[in-house]
Amino acid sequence: MNQTAELPDLVIGGLHINPPIIQGGMGVLVSSSRLAAAVSNEGALGVVAAVGAGEEAERKNLSYRDWSAQGLRKILRKARTLTDNPIAVNVMCALSNYEDLVRVAVEEHVAAIISGAGLPLKLPELVPSTETKLIPVVSSARAASIICRSWWKKYRRLPDALVVEGPSAGGHLGFSMREISGVPITLESVVSGVLDYVKTVEAEHDVRIPVIAAGGVFTGSDIARFLKLGASGVQMGTRFVCTEECDASPLYKQAYLDCAKEDIVIMESPVKLPLRVIRNAFVEKVLSGEKTPFRCNYHCLRNCVPDSSPYCIANALKNASVGLLSEGFVTCGSNAYRIDRITSVKELIAELADECREQLSAPSSVSAPA
Ligand SMILES: Cc1cc2nc3c(=O)[nH]c(=O)nc-3n(C[C@H](O)[C@H](O)[C@H](O)COP(=O)(O)O)c2cc1C
Repeated sequence: MNQTAELPDLVIGGLHINPPIIQGGMGVLVSSSRLAAAVSNEGALGVVAAVGAGEEAERKNLSYRDWSAQGLRKILRKARTLTDNPIAVNVMCALSNYEDLVRVAVEEHVAAIISGAGLPLKLPELVPSTETKLIPVVSSARAASIICRSWWKKYRRLPDALVVEGPSAGGHLGFSMREISGVPITLESVVSGVLDYVKTVEAEHDVRIPVIAAGGVFTGSDIARFLKLGASGVQMGTRFVCTEECDASPLYKQAYLDCAKEDIVIMESPVKLPLRVIRNAFVEKVLSGEKTPFRCNYHCLRNCVPDSSPYCIANALKNASVGLLSEGFVTCGSNAYRIDRITSVKELIAELADECREQLSAPSSVSAPA
């Protein structure tokens, strides 16, 4: 191991994260208490995904809103028993119970709320205290500027950091199908655009807004490349799925280990956003236009119209995370096919940090990604 370069802290307000890695929030129940706590125990930032956080057995007579808010609270309290380090929560703006979930996160004193899948324009109103850091996820400088201008005008507040997610990420993507299939958009170009914009905001308001690169970051060399570009850290999802501590079923992880590059496809989700998934029989059915009728139990996504949706995305993702892959599918980033083993979070983070350190101390420029 090359010890000559120390990894810089990712500093978000008073929060110091080292190595400068955020584990991306992964629903449904892929990043829950166990994964998030294991990541935070290594000094990186573990993130619980708020979507669908309740357990079916505990639904009883509760409404979806109450059940999922209670589920998130329970997961955060469990995480607290597993780590003393900061934990964050990912709450997607697209969720119908967004406000409830943000409120639970604040009441449970999470260190940060990371919020994308839409523009989190109301977030500062829901989180009056600056103790909880607010981190929007954006896919363009334009989205960053809309958020910064709107937050400043209405709340005299700015984001504590920005996650910039490119088109290689897992989950729902912040690009149109046309953008995805057109001239390739690189994460480097999106990050550079946001960095340029952020510099103007920093100069105008005399603040520091760290930019965090996400989507396809796979190795420690990738991390070093984005640090050299000017990012303050990275957010990684896919690599954390194949860890012992990841909360999804072993069958979910096996789908990652078994997939080839060609098996990773993008399809339109019921809310008309591109979603990267691993091809299986369920995905084939969706791609061929076949419908899986369902009774909506959740009303979880604001823009979902159950009557015209080809399938229930909440059921599909939840089934997959418990290992019922014939009735759902796995979402992943574009690099999932490169993973060939299950590792511990400790091993993975040590490997990433060592590689990154080596690249930062190497005299020549870092190599291009594979
Ligand atoms: C299995 C999986 C589930 C995800 N779920 C969510 C989610 O619930 N909310 C969200 O904002 N992002 C979600 N993402 C995106 C991640 O938080 C992260 O930003 C992204 O995956 C980074 O790209 P990478 O997977 O190539 O590292 C998910 C990603 C994966 C792989």
